[in-house]
Amino acid sequence: MTSPIRTERHDNVLVIISDNPPVNALGQAVRAGLVEGIEEALSDDAVEAVVVRCDGRTFFAGADITEFGKPPVGPSLPDALDRLEASDKPVVAAIHGTALGGGCEVALACHYRLAVPSAKLGLPEVKLGLIPGAAGTQRLPRLVGAEAALPLVAIGNPISAKKAKDIGLLDDVVNEDDLAGQAIAFAKSKVGQPVPRSSEGTANEDGIKNPDIFDEFRAKNGRKMRGFDAPNAAIKAVKAAGELSYADGVKKERELFTALMTGSQSQAMRHYFFAERAANKIDDVPADTPILPVNKVGIVGAGTMGGGIAMNFLSAGIPVTILEMKQDALDRGTGVMRKNYENTAKRGRMTMEQVEQAMGILTPTLDYGDLADCDLVIEAVYENMDVKKEVFAKLDEVVKDGAILASNTSYLDIDEIATATQRPGHVIGLHFFSPANVMKLLEVVRGEKTRDDVLATSMKLAKKIGKIAAVSGVCPGFIGNRMLSPRQQQANQLIMEGANYWDVDDVLLEFGFPMGPFQMGDLAGIDIGWHRDPQKVTTVREALCTAGRFGQKAGKGFYDYDESRNRTPSDEVKQIIADFATKEGTEQREISKDEIRERLLYPMVNEGAKILEEGMAQRASDIDVVWINGYGWPLYTGGPMFWASQIGLDTVIAGLEKHGLPVSDYLRGKAEAGNGFN
Ligand code: 3HC
Repeated sequence: MTSPIRTERHDNVLVIISDNPPVNALGQAVRAGLVEGIEEALSDDAVEAVVVRCDGRTFFAGADITEFGKPPVGPSLPDALDRLEASDKPVVAAIHGTALGGGCEVALACHYRLAVPSAKLGLPEVKLGLIPGAAGTQRLPRLVGAEAALPLVAIGNPISAKKAKDIGLLDDVVNEDDLAGQAIAFAKSKVGQPVPRSSEGTANEDGIKNPDIFDEFRAKNGRKMRGFDAPNAAIKAVKAAGELSYADGVKKERELFTALMTGSQSQAMRHYFFAERAANKIDDVPADTPILPVNKVGIVGAGTMGGGIAMNFLSAGIPVTILEMKQDALDRGTGVMRKNYENTAKRGRMTMEQVEQAMGILTPTLDYGDLADCDLVIEAVYENMDVKKEVFAKLDEVVKDGAILASNTSYLDIDEIATATQRPGHVIGLHFFSPANVMKLLEVVRGEKTRDDVLATSMKLAKKIGKIAAVSGVCPGFIGNRMLSPRQQQANQLIMEGANYWDVDDVLLEFGFPMGPFQMGDLAGIDIGWHRDPQKVTTVREALCTAGRFGQKAGKGFYDYDESRNRTPSDEVKQIIADFATKEGTEQREISKDEIRERLLYPMVNEGAKILEEGMAQRASDIDVVWINGYGWPLYTGGPMFWASQIGLDTVIAGLEKHGLPVSDYLRGKAEAGNGFN
């Protein structure tokens, strides 16, 4: 097998080049090649400096994740990098694309680092439930200081080349063209000078001088890190970089890294990494299916959903025409969009110039005819089949042939909607989640007649606008809401049977969800859909509305709220629920949190199994992607189907049976096969 690493001589500079598509992951052959390359440089007196660079789309994007969990084969990355750093001939990293994880650690072990302006650098290991494991947590703080290292190591978002230069991670940002040439020239200029080694840096002393930075960082990012093990380990490792010698710091990093690598969170998060990428692939649609051009998008409905959806395209530079029935609704809708953008600008996440750019490619209209030349039109009117069909019939009349007509419905039958048109092959569901400009998930609903190119185009477009897409078949509620339904049903049933509604919320919170169903109800407003007739009280929600408990906006709903929106359980509500149960003839009893958890979560797994059985999801991991990105299922458990496989499908079945809940044949079959949902 040929090595993915080759070397080239340019006068007195040896260039070590990796060519390991797609992302130059640091697999065994790459590590071995790097060691051979540095040995070649050291053993040849004519070589006076070294450049490390990559072919293809990126510098090393990290360790090879597919090797994790398998028996290690040397040389290890830490050893390879120690040898690189030990060289007394200057070694220069020439970075393009993304230098991530182990890739960033390669750069840290080099004596100098250059990058093109479009490059990004980062240590995203926490997103895989890990910390850097090749001395990144020890070299980085010594090079840039603990304070600058903390967000990189513990939050894991990559930074731009410019930012990297500002904090001292890069020596220089060079022209986009001819990175290799510039790196060779730079390397030549360093010949004969003593080499600076990150491991010998002293910037980490900031963490000793001001030890509060660690607690301050924890306090500031507590919400983001809640439930995750890796960020805390990352903070410990960076702190150790100030407190311990380099050698002891590296030992500490190894200890923390190994504990995480063998733990359940990292396993779950690595599962998710591949799940997200798998979700993008459609089994029966060839990868080379032609992609239709989408240069202009139409949105029907400028309400909260329509406006949010439009913002996704505007932010990606795609012009949008947005349609409403009445001028005041149109003005209100576009006004909200502008306000949202301006708020983002106020928070420093975009410039006012970018706000104007985005709003400048928005065309508001009251005339369907203005949608004629759109390549894609997304309907976002309210959830009523007749209304939707009417909209689609109109769109079919006015919008050019070959354009995609999409519905943002969250549960209606896409196939029936498609019958209102003469082009069912071009009809698809694009189910955005609210707030649509923020939430990552896009459920792409494939109708019976949806064409392959329409589906492939939708998946590609999702990526372009920064969404994570998963394909669902047509069934009520698709993947996400269909699975939410049994959970909600159990939540309502549980409080009828005597469970404290705050226990129901707390169980989900403790599991890792950002919020429980009753908190959610309060936030959204309990009075949504309320008929305002105090004589007609048929649900707990109606009883609460009748008592003036409309939710957070009224200061009281299921909970009482103080000015800071802190919630306190309400005796009044507990009594309303108890009275309601008595009226319904439901006996109340004490219900444990264990029972609550089992009854909320196991039926979801059962529903997921049915979704798989019916072929509504392509694979179990797609369901995990939907629930993690659309409904706040904790990433560190890997999603409902992965989690169920980890705790054992037998356990899930036993729990369902214990509570008298249905068990699908598919779930039983999978349990018998003994391999989880994989
Ligand atoms: N190992 C193995 N495979 C990887 C990989 C890695 N580190 N990174 C990406 N891939 C694979 C993907 O699975 C995908 O495979 P597929 O085509 O079969 O689905 C392919 O490369 C292309 O990846 P993307 O679809 O993600 O391509 P993008 O262009 O959208 O993104 C990227 C490129 C930004 C580099 C993105 O792939 C990424 O973020 N990769 C992971 C980076 C990372 O987490 N690095 C740290 C690894 S852990 C580590 O280094 C530990 C060390 O400290 C010891």
